[in-house]
Amino acid sequence: MEQQKLLDLLKDMSLDEKINQLFQGGAGFYAEGSIATGPASEQGFSEKTIREAGSVLSVVGAKTIKEIQKNHIENHPHHIPLVFMADIINGYKTIFPIPLAQGAAFNPKVAYTGAEVAAKESSAAGIHVTFSPMVDLVRDARWGRVMESTGEDPYLNSVYAKALVEGYQGDDPKKSGKLGACVKHFAGYGAPTGGRDYNNVELSERTLRDDYLPAYEAAIKAGALLVMTSFNTLNRIPSTANKWLMRQVLREEMGFEGTVISDWAAIEEIKYHGLCEDRKGAAKLAIEAGTDIDMMTTCYSNYLKELIESGEVSEELLDEAVLRVLELKNKLGLFENPYKDADEDAEKTVLLCEEHRKKAKEAAKETFVLLENNGILPLKKEEKVAFIGPFTEEKNIIGAWSIFGEAKDAVSVKEGVEAYKVNALFAKGCDSIDPGKKVYGMNLPYDCKRTKEEADAMIEEAVETALKADKVVMCIGEHMAQTGEAASRGDITIPKQQKKLLKAVARVNKNIIVVLFNGRPLDIRKIKELAKAILVVWMPGSEGGNAITEVLYGETAPSGRLPMSFPYSVGQVPVFYGEFNTGRKMDDSNPDNKFQSRYIDIPNKPLYTFGYGLSYTKFTYSEVNLSRGLLEEGGELIASVIVRNTGKRRGAEVVQMYIRDDCGSVARPVRELKGFEKIWLEPGEEKEVSFSITEEILKFHDINMNYTAEKGSFTVFIGSDSDTNNQKKFELI
Ligand code: GLC
Repeated sequence: MEQQKLLDLLKDMSLDEKINQLFQGGAGFYAEGSIATGPASEQGFSEKTIREAGSVLSVVGAKTIKEIQKNHIENHPHHIPLVFMADIINGYKTIFPIPLAQGAAFNPKVAYTGAEVAAKESSAAGIHVTFSPMVDLVRDARWGRVMESTGEDPYLNSVYAKALVEGYQGDDPKKSGKLGACVKHFAGYGAPTGGRDYNNVELSERTLRDDYLPAYEAAIKAGALLVMTSFNTLNRIPSTANKWLMRQVLREEMGFEGTVISDWAAIEEIKYHGLCEDRKGAAKLAIEAGTDIDMMTTCYSNYLKELIESGEVSEELLDEAVLRVLELKNKLGLFENPYKDADEDAEKTVLLCEEHRKKAKEAAKETFVLLENNGILPLKKEEKVAFIGPFTEEKNIIGAWSIFGEAKDAVSVKEGVEAYKVNALFAKGCDSIDPGKKVYGMNLPYDCKRTKEEADAMIEEAVETALKADKVVMCIGEHMAQTGEAASRGDITIPKQQKKLLKAVARVNKNIIVVLFNGRPLDIRKIKELAKAILVVWMPGSEGGNAITEVLYGETAPSGRLPMSFPYSVGQVPVFYGEFNTGRKMDDSNPDNKFQSRYIDIPNKPLYTFGYGLSYTKFTYSEVNLSRGLLEEGGELIASVIVRNTGKRRGAEVVQMYIRDDCGSVARPVRELKGFEKIWLEPGEEKEVSFSITEEILKFHDINMNYTAEKGSFTVFIGSDSDTNNQKKFELI
């Protein structure tokens, strides 16, 4: 529909119609069984609000959506179609690894493919928009939603943000099999004080701009149709009511012209943050800040009319919001085709099809990170191996935000190993939740009612099984519901019963390989003491069991690298590689010097650093070669290394380039990731890997908050993780 027709439609709509176009309902209003992903708030929604609503969330299924859409269009005064939105985070029915795992692949094609498959499946199920990508920078492993991000680095997250938007939207979200993307949560949600979800976020403007905003901007530059406001206060102002953030930063500086949607009930929560007396005040603050869609509250529907008629809020603010919602529907082609791709036949053929399962398995294999291996891996088919632990048969390995995926469709380790037809024994050993404990998934609790006697008997059976095996693969980790939204943890170790099981097994069999299931970096010191190999598999998705089996038996070498540092202990958190020297940098060679930036009871360094990961082979690096020593304004220099596979097996290496600004008008991080490339090499093969360095990638917010590169000395590091010392200097002149 041409823009003028949209304007004419807007002009013709009544005040009530316009206001209700900003309402997004779901979760039970329109269809039984739709999924509530937020708190049940008072349901004071009028029949009229529902009839004239603009969008729906969390309702899925071609048949259901077509019926709702048909009924809605017939009853709407201007027959304006609904836009159907849902959280398709790492897959619809074919579930890919959680986003943090996808970040570990250090290969944006993995994310692009996952988004493409998710779009194909969910659009067939009638969905038009996904509330993804979540690109919040995360450096605090206590926060449950780190599983939803691609990690601690602004550059890595920006590369993935672009790939995800392109995977969902293609070159036109109106096209068949494509979705509109909604980048979230704007902004800074990943840095809550204390790692406690929904808590206040205190960030200097410089840290916000240099570290936290780039990935959102990358998604917007890639064409994301929507932005979702974050729950948190940013420096004590709720994002949903933050004019500076929403109008100056998002719209004026980043040039975002799309639709802003609040997070679930976030408009009403402005009141609970204490910025207004009531929901009417919340509605005023939100519409003035430029929040267009009110997700799951009646603030707009019940109070905007009064605010406009009293003159407290200009109708122009309402009109600009409504126009952006109409434009969204137009970009999705809904005026011409309100049912878009909803198709029951397509659902039957596309969802969980073999092609998608294969892609999910290949993706999962790229996400696993091998942290330790004394040579015990890869396994040999003829070895007698015991697979022990709750995650041998656990099928709930699809992640906390796979709300439309089903665990029954996932392949467990046991199923994967049995299909691989090797000499294997199995024992569960314990449950994934401690006896007597309860954790809450998105829509249901998980609890463990095992008695002490039963629990002890399970460990005994596991020990018996371990005694019969050459090697033991311990499949352990945190329960999926211990991660995700509203799942912050103060203790980031594995559950007690699993520790007990690991110790009991280690007493009878020293050949232990730990396969770790997790949604965050965990404190794995105890595991490191007892294991000869550690493979981090995160929450690997529908094909997890097959992917894990194929990597354990060496069909494919592990090729993931850590997208987020694994802390030595929770006491270090937030811990990340891009830290600052301080005036008294810790000198590990001089521990007796008291006055250094340090802990007196734990090390400064994380247990495993960002970018770290092993393969089943070894690689060597040449020195860093620079095409020139001087970089002038507008110029380019090339930094390169030769990487060689000196081992006996094919493997992947993630070549990483970091740059340090040796001296700046403000303190600069000790290094920052500015390039990476994953390469696969046969034994003996070598390859030159080059990176382009320009003034643009050296920019930051200087002492005057100007975004600029400052002349002077820089150090380039190129190696296999963020600790590499393979370096050379150049000068920006
Ligand atoms: C949730 C989440 C958000 C999600 C939304 C809709 O509370 O914060 O990420 O997209 O509600 O389900």
